[in-house]
Formats: sequence, structure tokens, C-alpha cells
Amino acid sequence: MIESIHGVRGIGFGGDYNPEQWPDDVRLADLDLMREAGVTVVSLAIFAWASIEPVEGRYDWGWLDDTMDRLHEAGIRVSLATATASPPPWLTRKHPEILPRTADGTVLSPGARQSYAVSSPTWRRYAVRMAVAVAERYRDHPALALWHVDNEIGCHVPHDYSDSAAEAFRRWLRRRYRDIDALNDAWGTAFWSQRYGDFEEVLPPRAAPSLSNPTQQLDFARYSSDELLSYYVELRDAIRPITPDVPITTNFMCTTATKWMDYRRWAAEVDVVATDHYTIAADADRHVELALSADLTRGVAGGRPWLLMEHSTGAVNWQPRNRAKGPGEMMRNSVSHVARGADAVMFFQWRASRAGAEKFHSGLVPHAGTDSQLYRDVVDLGAAVGDLAPLAGSRVEARAALVWDYEAWWAVELDAHPSEAVTYMDRMRALHAALWRRGVTTDVVGSTDDLDRYDLVVVPTLYLVSDTGAANIAAAAERGATVAITYFSGIVDEHDHVRLGGYPGAFRDLLGVRSDEFFPLLDGEVVTLDDGTRADVWTERVELTGAEAVRTFADGPMAGRPAVTRHAVGAGHAWYVATRQDEAGTDALVDALLAESGVTPVLDVPAGVEAVRRVGDEHSFVVVINHTDEVAAIDLTGVDLLTGARVEPGFKVEGGACAVVQEA
Ligand code: GAL
Repeated sequence: MIESIHGVRGIGFGGDYNPEQWPDDVRLADLDLMREAGVTVVSLAIFAWASIEPVEGRYDWGWLDDTMDRLHEAGIRVSLATATASPPPWLTRKHPEILPRTADGTVLSPGARQSYAVSSPTWRRYAVRMAVAVAERYRDHPALALWHVDNEIGCHVPHDYSDSAAEAFRRWLRRRYRDIDALNDAWGTAFWSQRYGDFEEVLPPRAAPSLSNPTQQLDFARYSSDELLSYYVELRDAIRPITPDVPITTNFMCTTATKWMDYRRWAAEVDVVATDHYTIAADADRHVELALSADLTRGVAGGRPWLLMEHSTGAVNWQPRNRAKGPGEMMRNSVSHVARGADAVMFFQWRASRAGAEKFHSGLVPHAGTDSQLYRDVVDLGAAVGDLAPLAGSRVEARAALVWDYEAWWAVELDAHPSEAVTYMDRMRALHAALWRRGVTTDVVGSTDDLDRYDLVVVPTLYLVSDTGAANIAAAAERGATVAITYFSGIVDEHDHVRLGGYPGAFRDLLGVRSDEFFPLLDGEVVTLDDGTRADVWTERVELTGAEAVRTFADGPMAGRPAVTRHAVGAGHAWYVATRQDEAGTDALVDALLAESGVTPVLDVPAGVEAVRRVGDEHSFVVVINHTDEVAAIDLTGVDLLTGARVEPGFKVEGGACAVVQEA
């Protein structure tokens, strides 16, 4: 059986454990409860700096020693944090220069968490010192299974505009451009008298009288992601020699809501990809958003299994209205993550806090205690996760890919564009959801990733694309895949310079179309296509230069002109979608793409039922999640690992329930 967390056989189960918030009798009781709930791994000491080192240089290891020992005796593995996620008050008092600053100059005060500037040399020195102290202390501890560096690095302060950040940004720019004229060319500084004579003149894009230089903003986003990553790397490299055999990671936020960390670059630096995911209670399609985020995580992990480091058993505390999960929802969420490649199901946090900003955030043990529906559900989930052990290490099967590029996301949402209504996640979610509704599993990949194994490649809003990325996508169509690209793609190069000669720039030849002007629709304006479906947000004057029109606009500023086109390229086809189609139009498009590419669902399942296949060395598994209230008949043969029962085609999965069939 494969171990993704050292010493955890099968799929890990557990969560953040913050014993420093509780008296010792509660901590002792925790161990029995953890065993009862089937917990196999906890993340420890994430926010514990002030409890470990209450006064500079004076360490109180006692409580953490006891916790490590007791967890070990209970057979629970520890993902041990560097304790750096929140600087203690004595440190920010002594060194206020470590505090981060916003674009308008506001200094972010201590009193919450993550009140540090990753670029501050003083902060780096103290953080390394703390990480090393923890590593030295527990280097030989038998419970130590994994290092958890800091926590959700960049979560609250993805961009810091402090003076230390200005210096680090300039160092980053010198490395990137070497001489100032190269920077001037890349940033287009002939515009608005922005020409720099020396790197020392350059600043982060702090609050300015008008629109800041877009390439400056884009490079600052790149620098910020790299700088946060370099902080992780510095801590990792400090502890690596102390525990050379213990894997090291940090929890990413690979989700549709987290924009600023380029996790594809980060993934190369961790020993195993770990991520956090929270559903949004107000989103009726939150299970579909979960699937996209999990597919992204798998893509970032290069297809390898990954760890779900945090999700919630119930309500969170940070949405406007924090509602508990519905019946079976925690189970469905967990099983869906496993279906899409997770080898651990972990939560924030073990025991719901009674004080502090997160006191209304759910945990595995709620305020109500063990006599509660939630705790009973947790115990059931722990048992179920145990039953899923055979899935550990297996890989998800997919023939369709969705291209997701962080730099394209940053660039497309910069200011002063043709329409503020063009956002990166919009078509990403809509197209992924249409594939989800058809039971098609989608890998989420980068524009320069190997696309060879895909028969369908969907490219939403890839505004910024490098020549290499554009050629890679075109090669997929040449080789025989169906490629579909949506509006406002291929527009600029990596410097955010417009590709001249007509839109969509980098994809003109591939798509066999050329547009000479954009006609974004006004707020609330809706147009009709020739099949009666509707569209909004975007139109453009498309001229066919080789493609055929599949759909045309029936009205609106582009009446009679192409809205959806198709171009035969090599052994494949390239489609262009020049407007924001409604759900019916998007569904019809995706049906046509699937028919042409030959990509089929994992299983024929009723609407609202999710099915994903993971393939291991010895067995394959189909995970079925019934998101509806109706019983679903499922055509699979094998053993349902959740019940141990043998199943035959036509077996029933109750409304709201899951089945995980080891195929035979
Ligand atoms: C995460 C964080 C946890 C906890 C959780 C609440 O962003 O890593 O420490 O705050 O959110 O949902």
C-alpha cells in the first residue's frame, strides 16, 4: 500500500491541531477521541510561535513535547509546522520594520496573523531561526512524518509594497532584465514619460494618480509570487539538512478564488503538493467548483496524488453568512477530493475554538461536543476514509484538458481593458461545469504542458500567451485534437504587448479567423445567436480566413457575423467562441466538442451524479457521488469499498450518497 504521508497507510485523515488553546484535560481527552474518529495525521504548531517562545530566547517546549509524545503513543502521525505563520507580539514590537504595507502605504499591524513582510531580511532571519529550533528539537521524534512550512503563504498578504519589498523587487528586476533598457522596452516606458535611467528609480506599483504601468503591475505580480516562494524555499533549505529524510511541503490554496500564487512554479519546490479548499455556502454549484479546484490541484501536482490539507466539516467563519453543511455534504466533499486525486482528507481544525476570530469555524469536534450530528458524521467519515486505503497512490484518468495559466489570469484582469466584465474564472468555471455535467473528467494544465494525451483541449480567456504556449496549443490541433478557444485570448505576449495584425493575435492562424475591432456589450445587454441561445459581455467583428461559421449573431452590434467558428487544422480542429454564451449555448458547444473529439464520460450517469476513475497498479476504482435527492442506478461491477458489498450493473446509490467501486 502506498504511503503519501510517511507512516500513514492509505488515505490520511485528520486536521490542524491547536492544543495550545486548551487545558491539559481536554488535550488528554483529544487523544481518545482522535482514535475513535480514525484520525491518522494532524498538523501541529502552525500558529504556536508565541506559545513556544513567549519571550525572545526563552523557549517553552514542554507542552509540545508532551503533545508529540502522546500523539505518537496514540499512533497518530504529525505534520509539524515551522510555527512561523504568525509572529509573536514581542517580535513585531522590537522590529516594526517587518510589517507589510499595502499599495496606499497602510502598515498592516499585528493583532491578526501573517503580519510579516516576506522580503524583510529581519523577518527571514527570525523565521529561519524558529524553523531551525523546531527542527532541531524534533529531528528524531518518531511522530514526525512531514514538515508544514509556515501556512498558506501569501494568503493575506499576496502583495507587499514595503521598502524591503521595493528593494527585493528591484533585485528581481535586475535578474530578469540585466540592463535598464531591457526593462524600458518590456514595460513600454516611452508611454507617459515613464522611462527609467536606473533600476534604483523603480518602485512597486504603489497607489498612483492614474493607471499604473500594466507591465510593471504584471512583473510585480510575478515578483510577489516568486518572493513568497523564495521564503518557503529558505525555510525548507534551513530544515532539510536537519531532517534529510522527512518530506517538506506547505499548504497551497489551489482554488478558483486564489489568484496570486503561481502554484505551477511552486509545485517544483515541495516534496508533495498539499492544498486547502473551502466551499462557498452561497454557491449552489459549490460541488462543481470543488471539482475544478481539485482538478487544478492535480494538474499542479503533475497528475500525482496530493494531500487535502484543510477543508471544513461544516461552517467557516469568514463568509458573510456561515451555514453548516447539509446532510452528507462533508462526506461528498471528502470523497470528491479523493476521486480527483487526494491521498489525504484533512480539516481545519480538530476542535472548534472557544475564543479568537475563528471561534465560529467548525471543527471535527464541535462546540456541542461529541453528542452531536457533526461528530457522529466525522466518526463515519473517518471509517470511510479508512476503507478507501486501496486508492492511495492511484492516478486519475482524463482525456480532456482545460488550460489554466496564472499569468494570463493576472494580466487579463488588469485595468483599462475593453470590458471589465471579462474575467478569467468566468469561462473557466462555465466550461469546466459543462464538462462536469456531462461526466467528463478534465485535467487542468498549463499552456506549455505536454498536451499529447488529450483529445480535447479547452482554452478559456488566455489573454496572455507566450509564443511557446501558443505553438503548443496549435500543435495539439495539428496532431488531431479538438481545441476550443474563447474570446479575448492570444491578445498579448508575456510583456503584455499587443500582438499586432488583428485579433486574436497568437491564435489567428490556428483559428482561421481575424477580428479588427472589439464590440463588448454594455452592462445588461444580451444578444441572440442563430440557434436561439443568448450571449452577453462580448462581441467582436470576426472575419473568416479559413474557418467556417458554426453559429452567427442574430442581432446586436455584430448581427449576421460569426459568433462560433470551426477550422480544420492538420488532423484536428480549432474552434473559436467570440462571445459569452449562456448555459444552453455552452452546453451545445461542449456537446459538439465531445462528439468531434470522441471524448466520453467515465460512465453514463444521471444528471447530478459525479463519476471519476482512478487507476492503480493492481486495480481501478470508480468513485460515484450522487449530488441529487434521487436514487441513481449505476452500471459498474466490483466491490463497493464503502460497504464491502459486491455490486453488479444497475446497483443503487441513494440520493446524497457515495460509492467507491473497485472494478473487477
Ligand atoms: C485557512 C487557514 C486556517 C484557517 C482556515 C479557516 O485559510 O490556513 O488556518 O484559518 O483557513 O477556514
